Amino acid sequence: MIKKFKDFENFIKNNKGINRCIIRCDLNLPSDIEDLSRVYAIKDTVLSVLALGLDAVLISHYKRPKLEDISNPKFSLQNTVDKVSKVLGKDVYFEKSSIFDIDPSSIKSKLTLLENLRFYEGETKNNDELAKRLAKFGDVYINDAFSVSHRAHASVEAITKHLPSFAGKSLEREIEGISNVTQNISRPFTAIIGGSKVSSKIDVLKQISKTADCLIITGAMANTFLAAKGFDMKSSLIEKDQFETALDILKNSGAKIILPVDFLASKDINVSGNNYVIEDIPDGCSCFDIGSGSTSKIIEILRKTKTLLWNGAIGAFEFANFDNSSKMITPVIVELTKSGNLISVIGGGETIASIGKYKKDMTFVSTAGGAFLEFVAGYKLPGLIALEK
Ligand code: 3PG
Repeated sequence: MIKKFKDFENFIKNNKGINRCIIRCDLNLPSDIEDLSRVYAIKDTVLSVLALGLDAVLISHYKRPKLEDISNPKFSLQNTVDKVSKVLGKDVYFEKSSIFDIDPSSIKSKLTLLENLRFYEGETKNNDELAKRLAKFGDVYINDAFSVSHRAHASVEAITKHLPSFAGKSLEREIEGISNVTQNISRPFTAIIGGSKVSSKIDVLKQISKTADCLIITGAMANTFLAAKGFDMKSSLIEKDQFETALDILKNSGAKIILPVDFLASKDINVSGNNYVIEDIPDGCSCFDIGSGSTSKIIEILRKTKTLLWNGAIGAFEFANFDNSSKMITPVIVELTKSGNLISVIGGGETIASIGKYKKDMTFVSTAGGAFLEFVAGYKLPGLIALEK
């Protein structure tokens, strides 16, 4: 059992001299699209901490800088300050200096954001000296970044050895939301797993093929499964080195596996495609979306489903010529969710981008990418284990 936000509130009530709380957030916001979900996610926790009369020090990483990028503004968390301030409705003081150069007691602001944690070599190495130094910036620690909890990093794991540590409200919501597809699942349980690469989702595919009733494989990864079965996918993206894995999943799956039977294919992703059954894909063409027959089949399955896990794009939805399946399937999921007939759990950046305005209509939309996949695959995340101690 992790120590929850409720435990944090009791801790504050029962202990004097707790003035400042460090909150591990994930402000690693996407730069290609304006998506502030990760900022909205921490709002409840940050405002609750401030309402308890504590000052808050927000810490986060931002992208994946190399050590030589420390003075590159592209990697500074300064880029997020206005957005964080706007969403929280609070002034945010940004502390740009290295945490080794400033005196922690010199910070006087109610709400402070420290510079990108990945500017310190020790962060990704879970270095204890760094964790100890970070811990000096607060009297208590909250992890409200589920999306980094699969990383054994100094600000996620090692820091919990130096401060009383608790879960934030968003982290708790993530665990509860995703648990719909890992525990006491309402059946039939269907998973739609898409995206481009089998190699990035092997563990999830293996796990889900054991727990789901139906596993629908879409996106470019479906090409790899079909090619492994002997179909000629012409110029489509495939991963030959994953044929064995794909065949193994097909052979040993407890779930019924559904692969596309037709596709929208074209020679050029910028040119609209035609609908072909799998055997008729012309030479030189690539499959960029599933076809109308496969889309109807998925909708038919969804109508008989009680719980849905969806991770990974179904087609190349970023291209207007190949967003048809997403446009047809998403409203059905919304309709079924709204009428109380479906529990819909969605995760992963590209899936979230593909559902656009429908995000608010799903049962639960995770802000996490890698952490979502690892949690669903059944791994114990180091950031969560650290909150159990
Ligand atoms: C994410 O975007 O999934 C999290 O912020 C973790 O980022 P990372 O993959 O660079 O650790």
